[in-house]
Amino acid sequence: MRVVLGVGGGIAAYKAALLLRLFTEAGHNVTVVPTESSKQFVGVATWEALSGNSVSSSVFDEVEKVNHVRLGHEADLIVVAPATADLLARAAGGQANDLLTNTLLMARGPVVFAPAMHTEMWAHPATTANVATLRSRGAVVLEPATGRLTGKDTGPGRLPEPEDIFTAALAAVEASRPAAAPGALAGTTVTITAGGTREPLDPVRFLGNRSSGKQGTALAVAALAAGARVRLIAAHMDVPAPDGVELIRVETALELRTAAHQAAADSDVVIMAAAVADFRPAQVVETKIKKRDDEADPVITLVRNPDILQELVHARDESGTGTPALIVGFAAETGDATSDVLEYGRKKLARKGCDLLVLNRVGKSLVFGQDETEVRILSPADSAEDAVESAAGTKAEVSARILARITAELAARRS
Ligand code: CTP
Repeated sequence: MRVVLGVGGGIAAYKAALLLRLFTEAGHNVTVVPTESSKQFVGVATWEALSGNSVSSSVFDEVEKVNHVRLGHEADLIVVAPATADLLARAAGGQANDLLTNTLLMARGPVVFAPAMHTEMWAHPATTANVATLRSRGAVVLEPATGRLTGKDTGPGRLPEPEDIFTAALAAVEASRPAAAPGALAGTTVTITAGGTREPLDPVRFLGNRSSGKQGTALAVAALAAGARVRLIAAHMDVPAPDGVELIRVETALELRTAAHQAAADSDVVIMAAAVADFRPAQVVETKIKKRDDEADPVITLVRNPDILQELVHARDESGTGTPALIVGFAAETGDATSDVLEYGRKKLARKGCDLLVLNRVGKSLVFGQDETEVRILSPADSAEDAVESAAGTKAEVSARILARITAELAARRS
């Protein structure tokens, strides 16, 4: 996604650097447009180094690129952080006296303002009116956080935390996109695996994982809403299966594998949302393992489970039938010191060979068991970073977005 990050002249400008990192690490292409006065707080070199793009405040730099028109026009999202009282006033007044205000006037996608100023300025009727004007035109103006301000004063006026601005910005993008039309998947069979497999050790114990099944069931609901016939292959889930699906209950990875291969043979789409155990105990003991004082501590030997997603892709290649038309994988990545989340996602997409990979950023409390999620949808076709689609919001909202993408991919393959 192409993002313009507008930076206003306030002390909180330094926090915009953290916001910038959140966008670039999630793979977005960010152009920073600082106001002239913001450069008193953070210099151009910082923005250029962190964004990898050239930075200007003036409409008279790089005139041949017509930046004052192009930036706003091409942006999928404009975020202004910090939005000072002056900047809100200029935006509300429709002024075009620097590159940022020109860009705001040319915006075609969502615009999010994250205000930061002293409490008196925020509470002033002029600012209140400007915020109301911007909101009435469809811009998102976040409420400032409450807390310690620049001096010794405290109150509403602090810049919201960069993570909160990031989440709100992605939600604004999400809200601006259409969902799959009702009935768009009529006549289509969609198989979805959901939940977490359980690998038995003995009759009472198993190795499991934290998957709740919320994402898989939300996908099933979205597929039903789009008119599809839905098969849900459910491993262990904390939530009930939705009404209207053909439910196939499984316990282990090997059971899920058999069910998935059978279902794939006459499915248009298979979505592997289940958390499949990569390993299972080499031996399942038939009677309960007892603790004995005279024996050494037991050791559990694990063996690899087959990669079902990869197998489904191979089976389709070998059959030559082109069925299922679309195989969709999921991946949960944290990123680490060597690679970011998107890089790991791209590698996994290539390794698994599937048609789409829905990439979840995990960590802290993100994803498992949560209602809110944030994903990127990777396809082998998109090589440029800004072509990668992202979606954020509740698992229901994100599922609607994924189904809209699946609908579009199916239509493209059939045309
Ligand atoms: N998957 C599968 N069979 C497995 C393990 C995973 O079909 N034995 C599917 C999952 O349903 C998901 C995708 O593969 O759609 C990604 O799973 P993940 O566990 O993240 O991938 P791994 O290949 O195990 O990668 P990692 O090295 O990160 O564990």
